[in-house]
Amino acid sequence: MSTTGTERPTRETVFAPRIEDLLRNYRGAGVFRLDESTVGVADASLMDAILSARPANQFERPTFKPLRGRSIGRPEASAVMRAVGQDVRAALATSLDTPVRLTGEWPQVGHRYLRDLVFGPDPHRLRVLVDRRLELTPKLTWAVIAAGAARPVAPAAGHLPLSGLAGLVTSAEGYAARRHAMGLYRRAAAPVCFTVSALVTNALWLGAPFDEGTPDTHILLESLRLLPPSWNLLRVASPEFTALDGRIRTSDDVLMLPLLSHRSPAHWDDPEAFRPERWESADPDDHPGYLPFGHAGERCWGRHMVMPLAERLLGLLRRDRLRVHPGQLTAKVPLAGLLGVTGVSVTRG
Ligand code: HEM
Repeated sequence: MSTTGTERPTRETVFAPRIEDLLRNYRGAGVFRLDESTVGVADASLMDAILSARPANQFERPTFKPLRGRSIGRPEASAVMRAVGQDVRAALATSLDTPVRLTGEWPQVGHRYLRDLVFGPDPHRLRVLVDRRLELTPKLTWAVIAAGAARPVAPAAGHLPLSGLAGLVTSAEGYAARRHAMGLYRRAAAPVCFTVSALVTNALWLGAPFDEGTPDTHILLESLRLLPPSWNLLRVASPEFTALDGRIRTSDDVLMLPLLSHRSPAHWDDPEAFRPERWESADPDDHPGYLPFGHAGERCWGRHMVMPLAERLLGLLRRDRLRVHPGQLTAKVPLAGLLGVTGVSVTRG
């Protein structure tokens, strides 16, 4: 798979074999069987109907699925989102003039920048919870949380206030409550760093160097189309789905694939091309099959912080004339929950 531009070199995106198979076999397809108990769906109207048929259950929710067997109700989820929302707003209000070094290997560099920007003053015990190495196994994450929760977390470490998310940890009383609050810290802080750094890395890889007049928003919307970090949405078997399409059995889980609907020739001109200018006229909230943040009825609660954070980061990269190393012509997209290009070397232009 490759992207071509007049001023940028042809770069090849090497997808993990499973993703490459999906792209090769099902591009333009609507409904297809993936295995004995899973049906894939890439048809825009069927995706819409399935996602409208019932609300996501608690196990299907990416951020607020149960934490160590404990359900996270709406008031608690809202409190966590309010806290992280405030943290992101405070981070966005900080000066852009502070020198920052963004060269090096992405997405790691972007991840570190976001961690320091949003959760900078938090104690090491909390900041470590957004470490990329914890991605590998939930068991390891929980072990780090359990160890970190052993002692109370002091309300302020230095002269800067802690993040609002950290505040939820400092105010938790007792080991079990602290451990739970630290689990929620991980659940909300990690996506800020992981998803936004993935999105910006994907944008750089697909399109840098960008035309001067192209708005950051259009670049990001187009990156979310071709490389959607949330590339699949799972809904477990429900009779409502069979009623919508007889090819879906009552025992089938359904995997909706924005990865494919975002490249469907039925909905996009020149679907494989990176063309940010298509967003001058297309409406990201109402384009058939375009679901980078999920379905209209249950859209990502974090999207209002994701876009400004990604714009800030992309804006800094463009301001400092940073770009993908001209010698790098291939990069890998591993098979993971989050679709992102890895090992991208960013240098000064
Ligand atoms: C590039 C960044 C992101 C993308 C592409 C993204 C995408 C999505 C998608 C597709 C859904 C719907 C899932 C479904 O219906 O099954 C969703 C839901 C949600 N997202 Fe995001 N997201 C991003 C970042 C974030 C961040 C940073 C946060 C929080 C800090 C967040 C919090 C949520 C929440 C709370 C939900 C509702 C479901 C739940 O309770 O887990 N997202 N997101």
